[in-house]
Amino acid sequence: MIRSIVDAFIEAPIVTSFTRLGYEARKRLDGWTSLDDYDLTGRVVVVTGATSGLGHAAASQLARCGAALVLVGRSPDRNQAVVDQLITETGNESISHVAADMGDLGEVRRLADRVLADHDRLDVLIHNAGALSTERNEAPGGVEATVASQVVGPFLLTTLLLERLADSAPSRVLTMSSGGMYASSLAPSDLQMSADDYNGTEQYARAKRAQVTLNEMWADRFGGRGVTFHSMHPGWADTPGVDAGLPTFSKVMGPLLRTPEQGADTLVWLAADDLPLETNGRFWLDRRPRSTHRLPTTKSKDTAERRAQLWAWVVQSAGQDPAT
Ligand SMILES: NC(=O)c1ccc[n+]([C@@H]2O[C@H](COP(=O)([O-])OP(=O)(O)OC[C@H]3O[C@@H](n4cnc5c(N)ncnc54)[C@H](OP(=O)(O)O)[C@@H]3O)[C@@H](O)[C@H]2O)c1
Repeated sequence: MIRSIVDAFIEAPIVTSFTRLGYEARKRLDGWTSLDDYDLTGRVVVVTGATSGLGHAAASQLARCGAALVLVGRSPDRNQAVVDQLITETGNESISHVAADMGDLGEVRRLADRVLADHDRLDVLIHNAGALSTERNEAPGGVEATVASQVVGPFLLTTLLLERLADSAPSRVLTMSSGGMYASSLAPSDLQMSADDYNGTEQYARAKRAQVTLNEMWADRFGGRGVTFHSMHPGWADTPGVDAGLPTFSKVMGPLLRTPEQGADTLVWLAADDLPLETNGRFWLDRRPRSTHRLPTTKSKDTAERRAQLWAWVVQSAGQDPAT
């Protein structure tokens, strides 16, 4: 009880909660189990965005815990370099990679085929790949690239791997969202900004809000099949992605930012601990479930009608309905 009160006190102001101050206080407060204590031998984990930042830190820790890993990034050379590095550093030789752009649905389909062909089980699917782009780009299918790579591609990958996940139950699908989504309302009809009014930060927040909403919807619709769906945010961590997408923020906040390992801690914990299997569809920071709304304005727009609209749009964009 006292710990929950202290945690709520840390959570209220974003600067204490999202920075390394929040991480360090909660780690001490809750007496966290060391990630090195988890033995994931025999479990198969797919991690997207594993060549840099949070995904790299998570992959490194998961490799140390003994999991068999499939690393996903866009460049075969970058992927292979990380595979080689992790094998050398951890001695875990069950690490492979597949090159795929998560915004290219043809590549996502090939990725799913490779995972299904190479692994007869799948314990954890981690959707971590993502970036904030200051310029508007389109993915091969014509969908705006932020949404294509962080909403549509991951939706298609989960859909294509759902049977294997269900057959491997209890299994988990984890999505790395962002605290930036707190500023954005669920707005399926505005999910893709046009070139005229494109704003990278706002587009990113919309995509991250959609990820969190879809996570809850996956849990509602498919959680009964032994698959646990959780999303999370990492706070603010010092990664190449933050340097590139938010350079001024990165400079100003520098000393307070979390390390990539600190930002990735909850991701690895969600993949490894038994506690996350007791609930479904939650949104986490620092090993505790958090509210998905901080503002009454975003909460009031999170309606059943908008959710249904979002699901219909993503099914159509992905070209695949998980229900069929
Ligand atoms: N760092 C933070 O403070 C923070 C805060 C909130 C949320 N996040 C989220 O955390 C995740 C990781 O971010 P990060 O800060 O670690 O960024 P990062 O250092 O730039 O790493 C991003 C990773 O995603 C991969 N990637 C990017 N676009 C991709 C695509 N279309 N298809 C496949 N892979 C792609 C990159 O690999 P390649 O370039 O090799 O393809 C790279 O491995 C993102 O979803 C981000 O939105 C981060």
